[in-house]
Amino acid sequence: MEDLIVPIFVDENISSSIEIRSMPGYYRIPVEGVVKEVETCLELNLKSFILFGIPSYKDEIGSSAFDRNGVIQKAIRMIRKEFPDVVIVTDVCLCEYTTHGHCGIVRDGKILNDETLPILGKIAVSHAEAGADIVAPSGMMDGMVKAIRTALDDAGYTDVAIMSYSAKYASSFYSPFREAADSGYKFGDRRSYQMDIHNSNEALREIELDLKEGADIVMVKPALAYLDIVRRVKETFKVPTCAYNVSGEYAMVKASTMQGWLDEKAIVYEILTCIKRAGADLIITYHAKDFARWMMEGFEW
Ligand code: PBG
Repeated sequence: MEDLIVPIFVDENISSSIEIRSMPGYYRIPVEGVVKEVETCLELNLKSFILFGIPSYKDEIGSSAFDRNGVIQKAIRMIRKEFPDVVIVTDVCLCEYTTHGHCGIVRDGKILNDETLPILGKIAVSHAEAGADIVAPSGMMDGMVKAIRTALDDAGYTDVAIMSYSAKYASSFYSPFREAADSGYKFGDRRSYQMDIHNSNEALREIELDLKEGADIVMVKPALAYLDIVRRVKETFKVPTCAYNVSGEYAMVKASTMQGWLDEKAIVYEILTCIKRAGADLIITYHAKDFARWMMEGFEW
C-alpha cells in the first residue's frame, strides 16, 4: 500500500461530495471533506495523496492557483494540521485555473512557455508554504522543473521534492479527468506540449532533461498502454519512477465490471501488479481505496 498514491479532487464550489459521471464511484469532495477522506484512507493504510483543485474563480493566468487561500492551499493546511505524517503531493498546473483551460499562459491562441514558468514557480512555493511534501508539475512546459526547483530553493523549501510528469503523452485516456477537474480546454488541443504517442525515445530525452533540471521522481502517463515506456525509463535511469493509472483507464475498468463482463477485483489486482512488474516504484491510481479495502478483507488472487 506504500506504493499507491490516492488522487483527491477538492472542489471549492460544493458543500457535499459529487460523483464524477464518467468515473463511477469517484467523487469531487468539498474542502471541508478532505480531513475525513484522508482519515478513511489512513484506515486502509494509504498514506500518500495527490491533490487536484477545482477553484471558484478562474482567469486568463490562473491566479487562484497561487493564491494563499486557494482551494489547494486550504486543503493542504487542513490535512497537515490533522495528519503531520501523511505524504502530500500536489499537481502544479494551470489548466484547472484558467478560463481557457490550457496548461500555460495563452496569447493569440499560442501557449507561451517561458512566460508560464515564473507562475509555476509561484504555485509550487504556495503549495510548499501550505505544507506540501512533493510538487508535481504536470503541464509539460519546457524548463518547468528548473524554474520550480529554483523558486523553491530561493524560498527556503530545499527539502520539498519534485515529481515531474516527464513523459506525459497527448492521450485520449484523460477525458474523464477533464470532467472531474473541470479542466477541458476551450480551443485547440494539448499536442503542442504533450508527447506524441508514436514516440518512445522522446520519453527518455524528456526524462533525462527533467533529471538534469532537478526532478527527484519521474512519471510516465498514462500507464497501461505505456508499460514499455515505464520499463525503459526504469532500466535506463534507475531513479524513482511513478506510473499514473489515469482516469480513462479507470473508466474502462468500471464500465466493464459494472456490466459484469469482467471481475473487478481480479482485474484491478492484475493491472496494479503488472504496472509494478514493469518497473514502477509508485502508482497513482483511482483504484487505490477499493484495492486496499479488498486486500484488508483478505482478497486472494
Ligand atoms: C493536468 C493533468 C491532467 C491529468 C493529470 N494532470 C489532464 C490533462 O493533461 O489533460 C490527467 C489525469 C487522468 O486522466 O487521470 N493538470
